[in-house]
Amino acid sequence: MRTVELADLDRSRMPTHVAVVMDGNGRWAQRRGLPRTDGHAAGEEALMDTIWGALDAGIRWLTVYAFSTENWKRPVDEVRYLMNFNERLLLTRRDELNERDVKLQFIGRRDWRVPKRILRRIDETLELTRDNRSMTVSMAFNYGGRAEIIDAVKELVAAGVPADKVNEKRVREHLYDPSMPDPELMVRTSGEHRTSNFLMWQLAYSELVFTDVLWPDFRRGDLYAAIGEYQRRDRRFGGLTDSDVTGE
Ligand code: IPE
Ligand code: IPE
Ligand code: MG
Repeated sequence: MRTVELADLDRSRMPTHVAVVMDGNGRWAQRRGLPRTDGHAAGEEALMDTIWGALDAGIRWLTVYAFSTENWKRPVDEVRYLMNFNERLLLTRRDELNERDVKLQFIGRRDWRVPKRILRRIDETLELTRDNRSMTVSMAFNYGGRAEIIDAVKELVAAGVPADKVNEKRVREHLYDPSMPDPELMVRTSGEHRTSNFLMWQLAYSELVFTDVLWPDFRRGDLYAAIGEYQRRDRRFGGLTDSDVTGE
């Protein structure tokens, strides 16, 4: 996929919410003979350029997959690196994000595996950016789509909601961020064609765009290319589009 300029997109058909699986850091590093962790470090520039690019495009929600509930299976050194890396990213970037009116949100499990120190940083960041309105950047951290649905079901059961009152609206109200609209578009880098447990509920009708670009090489032009691809898709939601009905 070639990169695209913002001016080449249809501004009347921009997605409200874009979700990104930031994948391929390890391979990016390995191709350069570097340790995998250097690939994660190089992903920071990709993330910041994607955030600013989304902001310039008027995207209201950007959700990025930073650490999955399955990523604990990695070697302890890599897990430790990722924890420290995400903490440092928060500390060094939250002020500039705050200055540009970006709200930071976190979705994921706050379980015993996440160091207390990081939970504190997350809470401070939520508080700092809570009233910002230009865009919400949601970090999926210790996030799993199945875990999110299980957690929602647990809350419904604990609240004593009877079985015949369980419906889509109620489940949605118990997701990690009930105010988050479903993404119209999910982009995954590094040529892998799967969701890896990302936003299982919310992606039900999203357009999926896959690119071979490795995450550390991803820039706003790649985001715009994915949005361009999205704008060429015909979304049906199980129904028919006008042209199906008229035969044109
Ligand atoms: C994505 O890059 C970052 C995380 C999963 C945290 P990877 O580390 O998965 O890189 P590859 O897929 O091994 O190249
Ligand atoms: C998905 O990437 C998780 C994140 C990007 C944080 P993975 O690299 O963990 O996914 P798999 O193992 O290739 O499915
Ligand atoms: Mg990967």
